[in-house]
Amino acid sequence: MSIIHQGNRTEIELLRSLHEKEDAQLLNARSSLVASKRLREFANVKPERRALFVEAFLHHAARGRGVVPLVLSEELEIALGEHKERGGCSQNMNELGTYCEVSEFGRLYIQGETLDAYLFNKQLRAVSLPVMMGWLAELCDVLKRVHSLKIIHRDVTPSNILFGTGGDSDSRVWLNDFSLARSLKSGALKEEELLQGTPRFLVPEVLRGEQPSSASDIYQVGLLLALAMMNPSQRGEILSAPGALRSLAPQYLKSSGLGEILAEEPLCRPDAGELARLLRR
Ligand SMILES: Nc1ncnc2c1ncn2[C@@H]1O[C@H](COP(=O)(O)OP(=O)(O)OP(=O)(O)O)[C@@H](O)[C@H]1O
Ligand SMILES: [Mg+2]
Repeated sequence: MSIIHQGNRTEIELLRSLHEKEDAQLLNARSSLVASKRLREFANVKPERRALFVEAFLHHAARGRGVVPLVLSEELEIALGEHKERGGCSQNMNELGTYCEVSEFGRLYIQGETLDAYLFNKQLRAVSLPVMMGWLAELCDVLKRVHSLKIIHRDVTPSNILFGTGGDSDSRVWLNDFSLARSLKSGALKEEELLQGTPRFLVPEVLRGEQPSSASDIYQVGLLLALAMMNPSQRGEILSAPGALRSLAPQYLKSSGLGEILAEEPLCRPDAGELARLLRR
């Protein structure tokens, strides 16, 4: 059908039906539209395939309300099951038992928009701050469940959150893109892995060279909240200046009594459950 997104290493292809592609028979779908994430040709090498496998594994482990549902080929479903049986926590490329040949996986297409579109697309009807806070509270409900599984997302950014309908769940807020997710049961991130992610949304502890935690996801929700609180015309300008979002966001949250969310010290931030309550107050 058509490519809906082209990233650095992956592209997302919209398939009209699960059987559109003869070589990738996709199962378990409840919708006829699948957003298939696949490695771009030049990225289609061993470490990239393994990284995609880890992404699919953690996305699958986090499945449930508010996480974009996966649509898996039989081959990938079996490989994920085998990896889980072996403990599933290794993210060390050399220790990943099976070399997985899979270079794409499907996700249910969510009919709606990304948070990115709501914040930056002038064509869309503006959403009021209370509505946006309600959505971010729902996002925190999702993060609370994901964190309880000892998984952190590390890339809670506007293009990775979808608002819309999908499957038979009544969820409206969907967490997507587990490409940087991490199991807290696996070892520490290496130095070069620490700084992966959307530069404007990097968290202070990671910039100090410390390991990320569930509190890092909370800090990123705080940045999203600050963006929502800004005048729409300021958002683009602030995001385009390096470091501006991190330095300006706290003043928006402080005036609403929510300053702790952006505390430099991760332990001072509320957890996802507390933050959901604060946002619903
Ligand atoms: N299931 C889906 N339903 C609707 N749109 C989607 C879906 N999955 C992805 N998209 C669209 O494609 C974009 C990119 O998807 P995703 O975030 O997974 O890839 P990415 O950021 O390029 O990944 P990476 O950086 O790890 O290569 C999203 O921002 C969204 O606009
Ligand atoms: Mg993304």
